Amino acid sequence: MGEQKKSTEKWWKSAVIYQIYPRSFADSNKDGIGDIQGIISRLDYLAHLGIDAIWLSPVCRSPQDDNGYDISDYQDIDPMFGNLEDMENLIREAGKRHIRIIMDLVLNHSSDEHFWFQEAKKGRDNPYHDYYVWRDGREGVLPNDMKAAFGGPAWQWVPEVEQYYFHQFSVKQPDLNWENPRLRQEIYDMVNWWVQKGVGGFRLDVIDQIAKEPDKKITNNGPRLHEFLRELSREAFQKADLVTVGEAWGADTELAKLYSNPDGSEMSMVFQFEHICLDQQEGKEKWDLSPLPFLKLKEVFGRWQKELYGRGWNSLFWNNHDLPRIVSRWGDDGKYREESAKMLAVLLHGMQGTPYIYQGEELGMTNAAYGIEEYRDIETLNLYQERLEKGYGKEDVMASIHARSRDNARTPMQWDESQNAGFSEGVPWIRVNPNYRQINAKSQIEDENSIFHCYKELIRLRKEYPVFVEGDFQMLLPEDENIFAYTRTLGDAQLLVVCNFYGKTLDYPFPVPKEPMQLLLGNYGGERDGMVLAPYEARIYFTPGKVKAPA
Ligand code: GLC
Ligand code: CA
Repeated sequence: MGEQKKSTEKWWKSAVIYQIYPRSFADSNKDGIGDIQGIISRLDYLAHLGIDAIWLSPVCRSPQDDNGYDISDYQDIDPMFGNLEDMENLIREAGKRHIRIIMDLVLNHSSDEHFWFQEAKKGRDNPYHDYYVWRDGREGVLPNDMKAAFGGPAWQWVPEVEQYYFHQFSVKQPDLNWENPRLRQEIYDMVNWWVQKGVGGFRLDVIDQIAKEPDKKITNNGPRLHEFLRELSREAFQKADLVTVGEAWGADTELAKLYSNPDGSEMSMVFQFEHICLDQQEGKEKWDLSPLPFLKLKEVFGRWQKELYGRGWNSLFWNNHDLPRIVSRWGDDGKYREESAKMLAVLLHGMQGTPYIYQGEELGMTNAAYGIEEYRDIETLNLYQERLEKGYGKEDVMASIHARSRDNARTPMQWDESQNAGFSEGVPWIRVNPNYRQINAKSQIEDENSIFHCYKELIRLRKEYPVFVEGDFQMLLPEDENIFAYTRTLGDAQLLVVCNFYGKTLDYPFPVPKEPMQLLLGNYGGERDGMVLAPYEARIYFTPGKVKAPA
């Protein structure tokens, strides 16, 4: 039954998820900020692309210190994005197009403007005090030397209670105390409330940091982490047919098998970053650039594919709202932008797991290289100050920012060649990448050879050929310095994916492909399957099994 689909499989195993960063996607009311009505107006575009679900970065009420990752009311929508009715409309309108909405749950911390925190800092005996992580101390004498991810110490003094609170991110993002059962119950109630509203799943922000133990300087992977996750899953996730994906910077394959245990006891899958952290200097920060070690990239992908086969589930991604644009990073955003963007798409979408497309990735959108005054991201702006103070040269710091700033991903979606790329008729909150006249959705929808159509085809193939979803992975040529090649096998059916990762011409490394092997997709047009691999060339061959490939 090689090619027959198992009906018991989870829907999200053959799904492709599209991430929307709401403030940069589509602005409906000319205030320069993307909003929910804007998203609704673009649902047909997403349906045309063929995606199954939208991961929506946070739209809940928030002072926007970290663009919504600082939530002050988990059960309301920020007026900047619309209101609850808009959200319900979005869920309904997306549903009509068979698209589910995945909410971004930020449960490691809240905003300091959340009612809980406002209460918590009133006094040590306030019922909400223990919802956060406090330590005694004296003003100016910090409990320890832990640092926050966005710069500065991880401790903030509150005179009213004469204590420090712990924050792994900005001062306006106090960490929640998961040790407190009442807090946990409030979280489950809130999650279930969203499930009632019809959301299709959740993405869990920095979920591996919830079980922190600051006295032992533990942030990721605290001792009680999986206990908390199983409770959350039992009390909320398992009550409906949801997709749940945890962001976990500290995951290895062993931990990933817990997170994505096929028994469903924790989450559907884990979003881990081992491959994406390879091009930075060892033991340093992402700003400390270093070339991509290509063989290592293959080793990492190969290991995750093998280890999780049948024992967990991978998320497949190059991009999100925190990462630079992949075509600028590991492709070529100049001469071979189209070829390399498609190659990267093919390489990723041929593997096992659930692929994620970050808005604009399907167009080959590129990094932006702005002057510092155009940047908006709190992490980037803090880094700039911090490094200048430490004596780094300005050019050096700007080179890091151009390569790695989160704002690379946050420039407005490029819809067409009209003013502001069709994103807004107002003044965009962040500058539009000036290359929108060459790179935009409208022109790519019209061009059947575009990057957009390559993504569309990859999504279609995943739905049509079960081997994309179920096939066993085998890395080929692990020592080849230029080629990324692998097979996927399901019964007698097989995919062969061959990618030239670089801009030089190479010999095709395998025997002449012949019947019944057929070229399913290539980035140099359907005809070409010669014995030479052009720059960034990518091909997917398919050999049908005994059961015919579905029509
Ligand atoms: C995650 C988010 C990031 C945010 C951080 C704090 O890493 O993806 O955007 O700044 O968590 O919530
Ligand atoms: Ca708006």
